[in-house]
Amino acid sequence: MTQNRHKYQEARRTLDPFGIKIRMLASPKTEIQSTNLSKIAKFAAEEAAKKYNRTVLLEDSGLFVKVLNGFPGPFSSYVHDTIGVRGLLRLMARQTRRDAYFQASLAVASPRDSTQEFSGKVDGTISHKPAGKQGFGFDPIFIPRGARKTFAQGGTEFKDKYSHRAIAFRKLALWYIRTKT
Ligand code: IMP
Repeated sequence: MTQNRHKYQEARRTLDPFGIKIRMLASPKTEIQSTNLSKIAKFAAEEAAKKYNRTVLLEDSGLFVKVLNGFPGPFSSYVHDTIGVRGLLRLMARQTRRDAYFQASLAVASPRDSTQEFSGKVDGTISHKPAGKQGFGFDPIFIPRGARKTFAQGGTEFKDKYSHRAIAFRKLALWYIRTKT
């Protein structure tokens, strides 16, 4: 359940090779006030599972910048919509320590079974200026550790190799295959 088509497509690309099919439920989620991504995902997934009386998979994610004490973290979507990529870069002007990470928390909730949770994290750095046109959100300024280009420069294969979301969805796929097939 997401209103972000990019997130849905990334999830699909990761689950496809495992033979797991998902559909996009473009409904707005209830986002509780918390600094904990997994609590946010779990609450929204459980509420939606009850509302729609079906299994709901929901992801909450964010970008955590070390020199900003983890900001924007759970507020990444709001910060992206307000000050944007350039605003975040301005907050980091003249900072040489540019470590950051993306985190994704997944919750699979169903009206019957207990909720399952998975997470993925990718370490990296924030570039000095935006580069690349692919992807979404903060992709133009995030360079994963071990690489020399931003997620937005790298494209889909590059993103799926490194991303927090791909890591979390692969964990989910392994759990699903182990328990549901
Ligand atoms: P939410 O999970 O809907 O609260 O939104 C998370 C926000 O974090 C997105 O709107 C993006 O701004 C940012 N974000 C999360 N994952 C990514 C990613 O893979 N690339 C770029 N930005 C991301």
